[in-house]
Amino acid sequence: MTEAKYHPGLEGVIAGETAISSIADGLRYRGYSIDALADHAMFEEVTYLILYGELPTVAELKSFHQQLTHNLQIDPDILEIIKRIPKSAPLMDVMRTGASLLAHWDYEVDDGSREANLRKTSRLLAGLPVIMAARLRHLHDLRPMPPQSELSLAGNILWLIKGEMPNDDEVNAMDVSLILYAEHELNASTFTSRVVASTLSDLHSSITAAIGALKGPLHGGANERVLDVLQEVGSSARAEAWIRDALAQKKRIMGFGHRVYKTGDPRARYLKHLCAKLAVTKEHQEIEKMADIIETIVVNEKGLPPNLDWPSARLYYYLGLPVELYTPLFVVSRVVGWSAHVIEQLENNRIIRPRSRYTGEDAREWVPIELRK
Ligand code: ACO
Repeated sequence: MTEAKYHPGLEGVIAGETAISSIADGLRYRGYSIDALADHAMFEEVTYLILYGELPTVAELKSFHQQLTHNLQIDPDILEIIKRIPKSAPLMDVMRTGASLLAHWDYEVDDGSREANLRKTSRLLAGLPVIMAARLRHLHDLRPMPPQSELSLAGNILWLIKGEMPNDDEVNAMDVSLILYAEHELNASTFTSRVVASTLSDLHSSITAAIGALKGPLHGGANERVLDVLQEVGSSARAEAWIRDALAQKKRIMGFGHRVYKTGDPRARYLKHLCAKLAVTKEHQEIEKMADIIETIVVNEKGLPPNLDWPSARLYYYLGLPVELYTPLFVVSRVVGWSAHVIEQLENNRIIRPRSRYTGEDAREWVPIELRK
């Protein structure tokens, strides 16, 4: 057998085809640039676009919104089980369990048809933020809030978390962050979701596995670590010394670098402007200053531009959200991309089963146990 070329981390390997998003000319979902979508659309519209391939009409958007609002009502038994998970469990682990739990209450769990997968996506898309918010509130001895049918999904997410009506700027910031996190070609968690789907397993299993892949600090977990960095630095006066020391110690700076964007992540550029707009208090402006100093030095010294997680941690902080929500919010949005990829995988499926290069011992003779040293 001739040996194929090995690419560590599958870097540069084309491992599939997709019509969902492209990164060759900025980031585009189904052909639309993320800048245009973030400027003009709400998260539900972008979700519809990613899942169905076209922007919705007024009637389609209304019906999709009604479906999501209905699905925000999840079985109380699910919330009861979520409450019983030990309080020490990280929220990302609870999200992973939550996706798996939703499967047990989903009457179409084993139906892999496109139509059933679209309906199940809508139930996951609504169910996961409800689980996330209820779990957070339970940790603070607060009761879950009832979803509000007049709010958008972004508005409901803020309401379910805080129990206060969000203002328009807050809803817009949440909408934009969900739009930018919704889909990103063949990243590690999306690849995971497609691998699971390729065995003809079910959608909930794909999403559960993808959440496990997203959790790691080299992927979705980075947005929580970014806030740790900013809090550790503490002030703009300390920023230059801190980052120069970190770089000298060859530390990996969370929120910088990307496997495919070597000259800049278009999502980070978009969110940076929104962060500057949202930073109205003195404390937030000081954080912006600190972030700018760090960013300039990392770009100049290492040639590493920030990725989406660098500004998104600040955005969520300015929205008054606790850090343990940052990666779960990524889940809430990326469910859209993962599901679209599962559906696409199933439309033209071939089991994903690559090869590895063997680096172990040469062939050896069997040694009976009594003769082993
Ligand atoms: N800080 C410091 N150095 C870095 C960083 C970083 N954040 N990222 C890459 N480098 C350096 C590496 O040390 C390496 O240097 P070397 O060649 O001297 O050894 C070089 O850049 C290449 O790094 P790799 O890890 O090989 O790049 P890869 O494409 O495999 O990794 C990754 C991409 C994982 C995103 C990496 O840049 C990283 O760890 N970033 C920090 C974590 C992060 O922010 N993740 C979020 C990614 S975006 C997302 O998931 C939404």
